[in-house]
Amino acid sequence: MDTPSSFQTDSLIAEDIDAYLDAHQHKSLLRFITCGSVDDGKSTLIGRLLYDSKMIFEDQLAALESDSIKHGTQGQEIDFALLVDGLAAEREQGITIDVAYRFFTTEKRKFIVADTPGHEQYTRNMVTGASTADLAVILIDARKGVLQQTRRHSYLVHLLGIRHVVLAVNKMDLVGYDQSTFEHILADYRTFAKSIGIEQFTAIPISGFKGDNITQAPSANTPWYDGPALIEHLESVEVDAAAAQEQPFRLPVQWVNRPNLDFRGFAGQIASGTIRPGDPVRIVPSGKTSTVKSIVTFEGERDEAVAGQSVTLTLTDEVDCSRGDLIAAAGDPPQASDQFRATLVWMDEEAMKPGRGYWLKLGTQMVTATVQQPEYEIDINSLEHLAAKTLALNGIGVAEFATDRPIVFEPYADNRQLGGFILIDKFSNATVAAGMIDFSLRRADNVHWQPVAITREDHAGMKNQTPRVLWFTGLSGSGKSTIANEVEKQLFLMNRHTFLLDGDNVRHGLNRDLGFTETDRIENIRRVGEVAKLMVDAGLIVLTAFISPFRAEREMVRKMLPEGEFIEIFVDTPLDVAERRDVKGLYKKARAGELKNFTGIDSPYEAPERPEIRVNTVDMTPEEAARYIIQQILPLK
Ligand code: ADX
Repeated sequence: MDTPSSFQTDSLIAEDIDAYLDAHQHKSLLRFITCGSVDDGKSTLIGRLLYDSKMIFEDQLAALESDSIKHGTQGQEIDFALLVDGLAAEREQGITIDVAYRFFTTEKRKFIVADTPGHEQYTRNMVTGASTADLAVILIDARKGVLQQTRRHSYLVHLLGIRHVVLAVNKMDLVGYDQSTFEHILADYRTFAKSIGIEQFTAIPISGFKGDNITQAPSANTPWYDGPALIEHLESVEVDAAAAQEQPFRLPVQWVNRPNLDFRGFAGQIASGTIRPGDPVRIVPSGKTSTVKSIVTFEGERDEAVAGQSVTLTLTDEVDCSRGDLIAAAGDPPQASDQFRATLVWMDEEAMKPGRGYWLKLGTQMVTATVQQPEYEIDINSLEHLAAKTLALNGIGVAEFATDRPIVFEPYADNRQLGGFILIDKFSNATVAAGMIDFSLRRADNVHWQPVAITREDHAGMKNQTPRVLWFTGLSGSGKSTIANEVEKQLFLMNRHTFLLDGDNVRHGLNRDLGFTETDRIENIRRVGEVAKLMVDAGLIVLTAFISPFRAEREMVRKMLPEGEFIEIFVDTPLDVAERRDVKGLYKKARAGELKNFTGIDSPYEAPERPEIRVNTVDMTPEEAARYIIQQILPLK
């Protein structure tokens, strides 16, 4: 199944959660996260919650008792932290890494708690754990008060749209259950919370270790406290799924269920709203309308379904609708757009590359998105806006991006499921960022393609040739320009209409604003790709001679053109050979440190893995190489 949040991709976890939810179907579900460090007593608190709700099986308890005596830091008493810090390695390091999900139930409700680490550099894990949470428990050590990390966690919690915040002031036993200590911390936190937009929170003085105000309040040690116990509060807050029922209906279609010719249903999890048979609906982005005929679930047909439930809808008309589309309330459909502003949390070791195409996955939709240089980065400690060229691991910033086709969305602030997305690297398949759409920059339906009467086929037909791009790539000084010139001469003699775009020349005009940083090179190739595409549409055979060092951008240009029209020619000259030739004297300068970001020296070159043509300039003269290339492409006319 798709997990409810677009940020989570771990199917194992999803299956565990499913099995657990099935076992407690009738109870409402609260998902929450705990933020804090091991030192704040977080693991102890989670262990306590599990223990007090009797979710620990007898045998596990026995193991825990003997474990505590061996490893515990709490003498003969049970060390609840051991229950949570599952992995031995983590225990040894004394820190918790990655997100761990725990399940427990009380009489009234079932719970999933994502235990996210408090360690400085683990913003990434926190985002993963927090993206589906209804509530966050922010732990504070009563002896230490509001710390930098408390601020950081609170900011992330707010950024991720978690509406309920509990400030658990822990270790009250170690400050003698002192009321003024608690109130002091409360006042401190209130001022900060307000400054970042958290209007409401619930503060509870607790001791995870001793059990004060966990299940019952007030504990005998805090007669001055008149709020709820932690569990009481967790049992009574309103969950997001309940609030989402009030919003307009949206069902992202996960798959089309077609067991036989008589049945065609659209399956998915309802992101918001309520639906009944007879309700008018609209398919987005196509805009077609129809009416709900029936709502089918595993337990049979229903008269009503609400946000959070997985259903299959059948419609009264035979409308086109497939995976990635969205079924919405007919009178109140969401927008579709291809340009947005979003807040991004970068989660990959490799920094963001503005201009590069990444896969963007939003619910069941998958498109290519290019991110621009950030407008600013947010310093998570001071909350200042800083100028930034890119975002590195754990960086948070605001940037604009464009998609290759419109996506259906809702601003994240209105709907986390329809406004949250992940970016995926096209080569490594790693999830590199989580994003939250702030708003759309234009409506896709305001920008149109102008139909043209004379087509690309007409242009090509007049020239009696097959238009294509001969894309030369290789190191500086590898011989790209020389060979491309030679190929163009030979094609010219054969009456072909060609045009050569050369790196050094284009950089004097169209691209004179670009230098040699990764970002500029990506933009260089993007523009050249667009120009080459226009020229191919005009019927020409285009030759390009650019280092074009990155695989991702060469692939991008390949995808811009119809199948077979992009011919990648790898001018495979080893670095030492190019450097020995050093026609322009640039290698010498680069080695002397006078020229930065020089390809092959201090800037990477990613060789093609499967070029259509490879030429070896060590054994071939440029004329021979050109003749070889002509032979390879000649059958194409
Ligand atoms: S690309 O990387 O963006 O594709 P492009 O082919 O346009 O590069 O330009 C490369 C040419 O610019 C080189 O052949 C060289 O003459 C010149 N040049 C100047 N500085 C650099 C540099 N730092 N790295 C590579 N080439 C450079």
